[in-house]
Amino acid sequence: MRYSEELVEEVRSRNDIVEVISGYVRLQRKGNSYWGLCPFHNEKSPSFHVIGDRQMYHCFGCGAGGNVFTFLMNYENYTFKEAVKALADRAGVRLPEEEDTEETRQKESRRARLLAVNKEAGKYFYYQLRNPRGQIGYQYLRGRELSDETIQKFGLGYAGKNGAELVDYLRSKGFEDELIKEAGLASFSEKRGLLSQFWNRVMFPIMDVNHRIIGFGGRVMGAGEPKYLNSPETPVFDKRRNLYGLNFARTARKGNIILCEGYMDVIAMHQAGFGQAVASLGTAFTAEQAVILRRYTDSVLLAYDSDGPGVKAALRGIGILREAGLSARVINMEPYKDPDEFIKNLGREAFQERIDKAENSFFFEIRILERDFNMDDPESKTRFHRELARKLCGFEEAVERENYLAAMAEKYQIGFENLRRLVSSEAARTGLAKPIERPRSGTQGKGSSGENSPQEKGKKAQRLLLTWLVDEPGLYGKISRYITPEDFTEELYHRVAERLLEELSRGDCNPAGIISMFEEEEQQREVSSMFNTSLPRLNTAAEREKAFKDILLSVKRNGYEYRISQMGNDMNALKWAIEGKKELEELAKTHISLE
Ligand code: CTP
Ligand code: MN
Repeated sequence: MRYSEELVEEVRSRNDIVEVISGYVRLQRKGNSYWGLCPFHNEKSPSFHVIGDRQMYHCFGCGAGGNVFTFLMNYENYTFKEAVKALADRAGVRLPEEEDTEETRQKESRRARLLAVNKEAGKYFYYQLRNPRGQIGYQYLRGRELSDETIQKFGLGYAGKNGAELVDYLRSKGFEDELIKEAGLASFSEKRGLLSQFWNRVMFPIMDVNHRIIGFGGRVMGAGEPKYLNSPETPVFDKRRNLYGLNFARTARKGNIILCEGYMDVIAMHQAGFGQAVASLGTAFTAEQAVILRRYTDSVLLAYDSDGPGVKAALRGIGILREAGLSARVINMEPYKDPDEFIKNLGREAFQERIDKAENSFFFEIRILERDFNMDDPESKTRFHRELARKLCGFEEAVERENYLAAMAEKYQIGFENLRRLVSSEAARTGLAKPIERPRSGTQGKGSSGENSPQEKGKKAQRLLLTWLVDEPGLYGKISRYITPEDFTEELYHRVAERLLEELSRGDCNPAGIISMFEEEEQQREVSSMFNTSLPRLNTAAEREKAFKDILLSVKRNGYEYRISQMGNDMNALKWAIEGKKELEELAKTHISLE
């Protein structure tokens, strides 16, 4: 069900954006707006701007922006609907009951019940760990050098040796057997009834980004099998889309995320001050997880085990991260097996050094590849060079490919020209990439979709005009004769302009409200950018008039050209084309005073 526009607007207007954002970010007042450190990228001086009058925020560093809904969607990972709900709650606005089907209602309440039973089980394990019978678990964790504070922060617990106790406890809290089974907490046997799935294990609750327990991992005490036992997938536990530790890491603001393999590794790193560490959930790292990480960072450091399977997993991870457009580097853990052991033995400074020295993922791949070849044997060595050349073809952008080519030629003592010829011939042979063109140091011009394309320039002018109008709504009267929504060519721009111009004609102007016409975070961000483009700084009235006129003309011309390109070649088209042209010439000659 969609909430009505009026209701959404009511919720929005009853939640002051400065108050809401202040709950997350320290804001400082300057004049009639507020500044703080942007929570969406890593920065040292504030470029995050919250404008109370306009009920919008905008970051001049990373371009994040929107209204109060966008902020929660972005920060809390809420959907639009969840953001509306949360803010309705906050302001005490009653939302209509969901008129959803019985089926979706049941699904929702099933999910809520699963989360509730997990939460209760988490509590149970937590208290067990602090109970004399849980001493073995507590001693185990202390033996692994976890502080009480860390144990508390991660909500660690213990599942005792009496498998019926958990079940009895959950039943006493009103959870039915079916649900306890569905959550993967217990299983049924003819002989012994319903018994806890986890038995004599320290328990790691797995939380989603909103700190809700969605599943558990349990580590056996001593040397049992399996070493780690994880909850099965359930409607609330999607292993492909969650990461252990992300609930903390997402606000760590370290400028990168460290990806590792184990729960203990994450915890050890957090305890040592590396709060940006996360791990996949007893399964291989997935493309979905990479996309999620991209919301928080563009740089991922791999801290996988240094053994054979760890290296293999790292190679796989690099591919996935690259696919998702993230830069990957690899932390060298030698001579230790994993981050937990490394930190335990060499300490946090040494680990920080390894972070600083993390290896470029391509170098890493090639170094691993090299191990399969015998460099003393010319034939084997040649095969290595060919393989290397093939990998270099993977870089689509010529400049990047050339840079790597140069680095590899240097590192492996291959003549640059020789390696380049090899790359060209491999590319031609396998069709992986176009052969590299000369000259070596030439930078490529931007493609037609680049920042300077006519399309982008047109959009820029449209953004400038919209921002200017929102800044000075009074100007609308002076240009209403010249401008129509049809001058805004892209679909999204057109919808925004239609609405804004209509509001302005009524003497109204509510850009923050326009943002919530759109439910996707990406769209909201783009709409917000239309109201937050940096206007030229101008001193004299004449300069201002000229700049404004230029922008207006540019929008009109762009709209005209767009319409021409869409026209057929009938009689009317020609007529319109001529009329439009005349109009443009007229406008160019007209003086528009902004006073
Ligand atoms: N894992 C698993 N099932 C296993 C072994 C491992 O699900 N039988 C997963 C767990 O998520 C674990 C991760 O793989 O955290 C890493 O496993 P491993 O390297 O074997 O464990 P460590 O993290 O080193 O565990 P520990 O230090 O407790 O021995
Ligand atoms: Mn370990």
